[in-house]
Amino acid sequence: MRSIQLGDVAPNFTAKSTEGKINLYNWLGNSWGVLFSHPADYTPVCTTELGILAKTKPEFDKRNVKVLALSEDSLESHMGWVKDINETQRTTINFPIIADEDRKVALLYNMIHPNADDKMTVRSVFVIDPEKKVRLMITYPASTGRNFEEILRVIDSLQLTAYHQVATPANWHQGEDCVISTSISEDQLAENFPKGYTEIKSYLRYTPQPNL
Ligand code: BEZ
Repeated sequence: MRSIQLGDVAPNFTAKSTEGKINLYNWLGNSWGVLFSHPADYTPVCTTELGILAKTKPEFDKRNVKVLALSEDSLESHMGWVKDINETQRTTINFPIIADEDRKVALLYNMIHPNADDKMTVRSVFVIDPEKKVRLMITYPASTGRNFEEILRVIDSLQLTAYHQVATPANWHQGEDCVISTSISEDQLAENFPKGYTEIKSYLRYTPQPNL
């Protein structure tokens, strides 16, 4: 089976989670989504990741993004570990964690990279848009905790492209100028970018961030 690529429709699934049975499409509804795997419960890096994500979740909510974690551990294991995360990370886990014991979802999303580890899922991240298309895929090794600020940064960029026809330059952060896609012709610029634009080259045009 071909592995998922950007622009593909995210495969649907139904799975057990800490918040009950989840059908991905029904659960997402019209929201954006982040589906991410971690290698195993009761491990240090994963504990910090899920703790940070719980604290950061209001930022995902603001952007209409639901978050969904996954590992191959059992529901019972997840439930016990969540208590530890809440205690040690001083938070309350506020998103579901899938118990993918039969690896159904992990295999569907190519989250097992056998040459890295044939037993555990790697740290995969999939951002799914409201049309259920995969818009971002990132893979981190087990030993590196993810930077959820970077994931929010990419979501901001994806939403600017989806809703405001701009792209974002290298190292862009909220509030900085965006770049205008080359598919926008000269005569569309005034109407589409009322805040104005600066043309450095015909293919390199900057405009203030449109949604501020
Ligand atoms: C961790 O979360 O710390 C971890 C999990 C699996 C392998 C290595 C590290």
